[in-house]
Amino acid sequence: MATSDGAEALSEQYENFPYPPRDPADETQRLITGSPSQLDELNHYVFGGRRDFSKPFRALVAGGGTGDAAIMLAQQLADTGGPGDVTYLDLSATSRSIAEARAKARSLKNIRFLSGSLLDVSSIAPGPYDYIDCCGVLHHLSDPAAGLQALRDVLANDGGMGLMVYAPYGRTGVYQAQSMLRSLGKSSETPGDRVKIAQAVLKDLPQTNWLRRNPLVGDHLNEGDAGLYDLLLHSQDRAYTVQEVNELVTGADMKVVSFIAPFAYDPTLHLSDPKITERLNALPWIERCAFAEQLTGSLKTHIFYATKSTRKGKSVADAAELDLAPILVGLDPKQAATALRQSGQLNAELEGLKLSFPVSSEECSVLELMNGSQTRQELLNILTVLRTDMTPEAFDTAYDRLFRILNGLNLAFLRTP
Ligand SMILES: C[S@@+](CC[C@H](N)C(=O)[O-])C[C@H]1O[C@@H](n2cnc3c(N)ncnc32)[C@H](O)[C@@H]1O
Repeated sequence: MATSDGAEALSEQYENFPYPPRDPADETQRLITGSPSQLDELNHYVFGGRRDFSKPFRALVAGGGTGDAAIMLAQQLADTGGPGDVTYLDLSATSRSIAEARAKARSLKNIRFLSGSLLDVSSIAPGPYDYIDCCGVLHHLSDPAAGLQALRDVLANDGGMGLMVYAPYGRTGVYQAQSMLRSLGKSSETPGDRVKIAQAVLKDLPQTNWLRRNPLVGDHLNEGDAGLYDLLLHSQDRAYTVQEVNELVTGADMKVVSFIAPFAYDPTLHLSDPKITERLNALPWIERCAFAEQLTGSLKTHIFYATKSTRKGKSVADAAELDLAPILVGLDPKQAATALRQSGQLNAELEGLKLSFPVSSEECSVLELMNGSQTRQELLNILTVLRTDMTPEAFDTAYDRLFRILNGLNLAFLRTP
């Protein structure tokens, strides 16, 4: 479909180098999961942990590419046994065919595949949608604000979005390299020729070059030609600071409800002087996030959830609520508790930063039971009986601190059991 979006150059790229590169045969081995849009994660951040997936749930994956989010979401919705479905929309026919083959390999029947621009979504597939995923797409549009507005137009009033756009500081060196390669490029060249020219430059980057010195960026080294093209030869690519994300989102009459992972946006984890912590805590949340982005310099992307600014009620689940159950993601509660009892220390790496938290015996007891089926109230009842030394106050302290750490690292969410 012809749009005013400079879609032709984009189209040429994604027809030649569908991104990310995926082989449908791998679907029998593993499900790729990630942020945004894992079901428990989006439920936590958009629906206060209270979405009932046995009711109809309509999701749109805008710019679905080779299918990661559409496949993950459709599989996780199918696993609930509910009627939830996913609409996949992309400009690239090659990417769509890979995504369709992945769905077929999994026998998923709950994805509707559509071709076209997300700018035209209200005529192609008007929704409304309870949830929209748009990951790694808006920053490639000539008018990202128009793209976000087009998506907002098809979002249900009580729904939300999971988005990802590039961030500048963790991508230090990328834009200099893009600029160098643009100045060497010839318009008559094929995408394959452009990759060869880029490789010839990359192999001789001087030691001082910012891309060479940036250990956080590796798609050009690890993701084949498609990774190199997407990172360094993209026809249209811009990065957003936290403040720019906020301006983009508020400009569409929406609000950012959380960045992922929350601890990557918390500067107080790194600065020990209480005077500084006090000043940071006095800042509006978005300014604290902006401070963290500048402090760490490690963010390559911003993953975030957003709702309409008129959205009523809580969108982010509240750990204080007694009828919500904590669920770990990517961790087995028993194994994790055993490991932490031995080490006394939770070590994590977040966006290239090493973080470490001491963990108490009470916290290990709470962790062991975080299996998504027991509410905070039930955990309190069980643990104050199981452990005679655990008072309700000690439980509250352990639960609140442990959940804050695990959620901050994107390892735990809340849901109704
Ligand atoms: C970097 S890929 C990301 C794919 C996928 N969202 C993911 O995270 O794996 C960007 C995708 O956006 C698609 N795209 C770019 N502009 C678009 C538009 N205006 N409408 C729909 N899709 C678009 C491209 O064809 C490409 O498949």
